[in-house]
Amino acid sequence: MASKLNVTLNILLVLFIISFANVIRFPLTPINIETKRSLGYPRDSLLNFTELTGIYGYPAEEHRVVTDDGYILTIFRISRGKKYHGKTKRPPVILMHGLLQSSDAWLDAGPEDGLAYLISDAGYDLWVGNVRGNYYSRSHVRLNPDRDPEFWKFSVDEIGFYDVPAIIDYVLYYTKADKVNYVGFSQGAGTYFVMCSERPEYCDKARVLITLAPAARQKNTKSVLYRTVTEGINSLENILRLSGVQEVFSKGALSQEFLAFLCHLNWASEFVCATGEALFDSFHPGSINNVTLKNLFGHFPAGTSVHNMARYGQSMRSERFEKFDYGKSKNLQLYGSTRPPEYNLSAVTVPVIAVYGANDHLVDTQDVDWLMDKLPNVVEAVKVRDPLWNHMDVTYSSMTKTLLLPTISDYLLKYSYD
Ligand SMILES: *[C@@H]1O[C@H](CO)[C@@H](O)[C@H](O)[C@H]1NC(C)=O
Ligand SMILES: *[C@@H]1O[C@H](CO)[C@@H](O)[C@H](O)[C@H]1NC(C)=O
Ligand SMILES: *[C@@H]1O[C@H](CO)[C@@H](O)[C@H](O)[C@H]1NC(C)=O
Repeated sequence: MASKLNVTLNILLVLFIISFANVIRFPLTPINIETKRSLGYPRDSLLNFTELTGIYGYPAEEHRVVTDDGYILTIFRISRGKKYHGKTKRPPVILMHGLLQSSDAWLDAGPEDGLAYLISDAGYDLWVGNVRGNYYSRSHVRLNPDRDPEFWKFSVDEIGFYDVPAIIDYVLYYTKADKVNYVGFSQGAGTYFVMCSERPEYCDKARVLITLAPAARQKNTKSVLYRTVTEGINSLENILRLSGVQEVFSKGALSQEFLAFLCHLNWASEFVCATGEALFDSFHPGSINNVTLKNLFGHFPAGTSVHNMARYGQSMRSERFEKFDYGKSKNLQLYGSTRPPEYNLSAVTVPVIAVYGANDHLVDTQDVDWLMDKLPNVVEAVKVRDPLWNHMDVTYSSMTKTLLLPTISDYLLKYSYD
């Protein structure tokens, strides 16, 4: 009985969060930027990618990539880091964000710690991606995200199949380089595996794939909040769809506006927002500094589809890394088998580096071990030496320069030339 009550309560909680987050989505932002400035929102939380990089002396270009299925993605390029004084320009690197993030996540820790700044300072021609559904890639040649539910019928399955190859093709075409290097965080790594499995001809277009907290199977995820939300959305997907909810946790929705408002307040940012973030992931005192903590909620959550969240719910229940599970009869129709097909991790032929945290409550070390066992070409799996290193640290920690950057730049350099 108690567990039944628990399940019901969890479902109610999820329904509440989703409606709160999304049904009430403002057509225009409820508080305009001028008002936010005068209310004391930190400047950086209100700026976009090119504005931020411009202010810190890293001028960025904005590019549009159209996928084979018509999604229009906005990606950014920092072609030269402020602190790079080398003569030769190093080859292109693509940097890809995680679930519910955007390219801006790589800037929120500021020019001393944000990996977009640090990787450009190491001399690379840096391309920072955005996947379908977030606020930079909420656009399509034919579909209107506000009117056409079809826009939101995607998950990591489609992001890996369409978005990642399209971005790689674009960067190769634009720079005339023969290969790229790829750094993917969480979903940004998992979608690369999807690509290798489904479109193996793309897998070796990177000389090296550096995966940061790679998300594939997530059977051992410890975060109760994350599990509750994604598993809840998975069981409620049809109900949500029937009620017209296709998009979740978008920027400008009430939940994000509320977080941005709450977390800009001095008293709340530490006690409420830092604690909330830790309950979602795990405690790592002193890792995210107070300025970053206030800035990041201007860019997070950045939005995705209900369908993608549901897919994450499934990845926490399955022993395998597999495609979306629609239930037996629809699976049979779509895939020709009652179970969704497994992704072929043996097809990930590119050399892989994995960097992961012992205290990551979203991508558990057991699932990383499982993944490393399946991948045929692992060069090194590096456990970050700080035992409290968690998931969100990858983009927001004030210690990325000492704890992550050395591994990333060593391997980027090693794999820069044939
Ligand atoms: C970022 O802000 C600048 C200046 O306000 C604007 O011109 C540009 O279109 C914005 N970029 C995106 C991708 O929204
Ligand atoms: C942020 O933390 C530093 C040191 O921990 C402190 O000196 C500073 O006042 C804090 N700033 C804000 C805006 O809370
Ligand atoms: C998986 O990929 C490997 C390597 O490309 C290939 O040899 C194998 O046939 C693939 N397996 C399946 C089931 O497609």
